[in-house]
Amino acid sequence: MLSHLDAYWGQESLTRNDSEENTYQSDVKAETLSSLLSAIVDSSEDAIVSKTLDGIITSWNRAAEKMFGYTAAEAIGRSIRLIIPPERQSEEDYVLARLRRGEKVEHFETVRLTKDGRRLDISLTVSPIRDGRGRVIGASKIARDITERKQLEQERELVQQRLIEAVAARDDLIAVAAHELRNPLNVLVLIWQLLDRVALFSNKSAQVKSLFDRARAQLDRLGTLIERLLDVARVQAGSFELYRESFDLSALIREVVNRFVMEDSAVPITLELAPAIRGNWDRLRLDQVLTNLVSNAIKYGMQRPIVLSATTCGDQVLLKVQDRGTGISREDLTRIFERFGRAATRPANRGLGMGLWITKQIVEAHGGTIEVESENGNGSTFLVRLPLQ
Ligand SMILES: Nc1ncnc2c1ncn2[C@@H]1O[C@H](COP(=O)(O)OP(=O)(O)O)[C@@H](O)[C@H]1O
Ligand SMILES: [Mg+2]
Repeated sequence: MLSHLDAYWGQESLTRNDSEENTYQSDVKAETLSSLLSAIVDSSEDAIVSKTLDGIITSWNRAAEKMFGYTAAEAIGRSIRLIIPPERQSEEDYVLARLRRGEKVEHFETVRLTKDGRRLDISLTVSPIRDGRGRVIGASKIARDITERKQLEQERELVQQRLIEAVAARDDLIAVAAHELRNPLNVLVLIWQLLDRVALFSNKSAQVKSLFDRARAQLDRLGTLIERLLDVARVQAGSFELYRESFDLSALIREVVNRFVMEDSAVPITLELAPAIRGNWDRLRLDQVLTNLVSNAIKYGMQRPIVLSATTCGDQVLLKVQDRGTGISREDLTRIFERFGRAATRPANRGLGMGLWITKQIVEAHGGTIEVESENGNGSTFLVRLPLQ
């Protein structure tokens, strides 16, 4: 605003340089400037108030009347402490002390009282006013009503709090549900084993045998799902432990891949493995990592060849699972390692979206990292680095 005024006056003085007119001109200047300023002050949405160094109000604009409820006539001549709540009176001492040192107080968020006793959240800027010799003789105050902003902030905090609670409730539910589901499932598996043994003696027909096998497969699936839910609960509760043993990762990879090939040999999987990669890891957990990555490569691999490689590099092993399937879009790349993070839903491939999250937890618990390189439509490569020890 001030630089605007400067520019305005600069132009004006270029057009008049007659010395006789100079006094007249500066009078006009001062007059125009003061009426311009008072127009600005009058039409401002912010309360603009001036006061002496003792805190006596000397001017009070329209916005101040509206904001605090006192007319100019009521306010001028009284102490600014009029609008300061009792418990904040010391703020005025602080502000006055700074002003006497010629210092400004900027965007100071506080509370002020209106005539009818309401409390307003305001943001305050107080600047010293100086006389011709530079002495501080008073102060101007600009107050902005920030009640609405404060309210929005509070609402946002509340929503955030609710969100945190909702997430915690979800985690509790998962933990409880998984535990509760495991018991009846264990009973069902036992009953199934019993029935299977009984049926052994009564010459199962091919049809009955296939029903038995299907029932068993579904029980196993349920078991895996429940285990995954329990994993989420364990990591959440910080009770996720590794049981390390020394073993050959290449052998484990062959074992896991064989399981998939036995189930579904339609997808060619090529292995590129160093002969033996010995390390100290949690065998069951790494089985889980491999199973997750290979099952994803099959699930999203569009039946195209999959390459799985493992090599050592210094004191690390590099494990790569590469497919040529659907790929992952850029925006989904950031989400897939999150809990329940799934790419845009493909109804044919429903899953819980926990596999990669738990995979990442396991890899990181071993001190390793997992990355993915992928492009929509161009397949994906998951790269796991694990320390050997
Ligand atoms: N090899 C892959 N190719 C394409 N998308 C993948 C691949 N692996 C994972 N994704 C995407 O990442 C998401 C998360 O994977 P995951 O955590 O294993 O969950 P789920 O397999 O249960 O959906 C998947 O829903 C899928 O969108
Ligand atoms: Mg998966």
